[in-house]
Amino acid sequence: MSPRPLNVGLIGGGAGAFIVHPHERAIHFDGTRRVTAAALHPDPKIAMQEAANWPYPIRGYPSYDDMIKTEAKRPLGERIDYALIVTPNHVHFDPALKCLAAGIPVFCEKPMTVTLDEADQLVAAVRQHKIPFGVAHTYLGCWTSRFARFIVRSGLLGDVRWVDAYYLQGWLADRTEDQGVVQAEWRVDPKRAGASCCGGDIGTHALMQLRYVTGLDVKRVSARLETFVRGRQLDDHFTTYCELSNGGKALVRATQIAIGHKNDLGIEVNGTKGSLVWVQETPEQVIIRLPSQPDRTYWRAAVVANDGFLKDLPADLMAEPNIPQGHPEAFHDAFARLHRCFEQDVRAYLDKKPFNCDGSKYATVADGRTGIAFIAAAVKSHEQDGAWVEM
Ligand SMILES: NC(=O)c1ccc[n+]([C@@H]2O[C@H](COP(=O)([O-])OP(=O)(O)OC[C@H]3O[C@@H](n4cnc5c(N)ncnc54)[C@H](O)[C@@H]3O)[C@@H](O)[C@H]2O)c1
Repeated sequence: MSPRPLNVGLIGGGAGAFIVHPHERAIHFDGTRRVTAAALHPDPKIAMQEAANWPYPIRGYPSYDDMIKTEAKRPLGERIDYALIVTPNHVHFDPALKCLAAGIPVFCEKPMTVTLDEADQLVAAVRQHKIPFGVAHTYLGCWTSRFARFIVRSGLLGDVRWVDAYYLQGWLADRTEDQGVVQAEWRVDPKRAGASCCGGDIGTHALMQLRYVTGLDVKRVSARLETFVRGRQLDDHFTTYCELSNGGKALVRATQIAIGHKNDLGIEVNGTKGSLVWVQETPEQVIIRLPSQPDRTYWRAAVVANDGFLKDLPADLMAEPNIPQGHPEAFHDAFARLHRCFEQDVRAYLDKKPFNCDGSKYATVADGRTGIAFIAAAVKSHEQDGAWVEM
């Protein structure tokens, strides 16, 4: 018998919002999840109006407090099975903590919180309630990210010596926040964004991509947070030089003032035997380069086991792609893969079976905390003129 679809409750995502939409499509991608409830706006009246205007019927709530309290009392199968938090950064912690206390699993946007103390509290709450918690580091959901992770961890490139992980954008090169762009307004406000704009918003994606693909952690950072656009309180350009857990080095860098760069997230991993390149704007490819050999470009869905070069490709990785090669997968597919994997853990949790949020399929609460610790260390280093700061 087909499983009942899981019910998802949105926190944030009213008219004009951005990231709720890729998530909403991803939730509905497989037919096994659907949006059934939402608290869409901080103003209760607007929240209800926007829920009434949603393209299909949902239970609208005037606030996330109301949604959490009311949904938690509904019988299983009728209540939300997990909450998706797509509010600005300062409205992640409170609803997340309340959901966890009410037994509702949480899929939360990044950066997970605004302060390290909040991040610690979420880690503790997840541990206490033994409940699934995911952080929406989108690009872990690209099939090619998983393939790149396999390649690096297989040892094909030797020991990792040097990584360049970057996220370059140009949309804040001007005072976008004064042009009625709500997404820019809150991102440059320390009360709503946190201690860093550029680092928190997209530097955390570059960091997560580095950690996911290499399996290495950042041990200490030397950082510069710069503000090129006059009048801003937060950085729009973020550069960290990092020492990795294996003794290797890395640059984790991000900018929002590089005109022409759109969502130019990428990673180059250099090992003692070879290197690997993955770029988000060409997300179907991974390039492997070994000395004295032609560069190899591997395309999603065109990777075959036993090609005479790659060995021991994991069966679950090979089973995953379902769109034939040359029909590009991208942003929405990555979100769908994250929700699909999170769904498995939520179903296990609801069935009181073991589940394993181990970070191999989506970012965990511990990964979310690492992102916040990284920003805190970078800010401290910058304040000390770029001195090395331990994570
Ligand atoms: N994973 C990614 O690739 C990615 C991309 C963009 C944004 N994000 C993250 O997603 C989050 C949202 O970003 P966005 O660009 O979509 O922002 P946005 O401003 O477009 O949308 C935020 C939404 O939250 C609502 N909201 C604010 N306070 C609320 C409250 N108290 N209760 C209910 N709703 C409330 C707003 O009304 C709006 O609908 C941020 O944390 C951001 O960092 C992640």
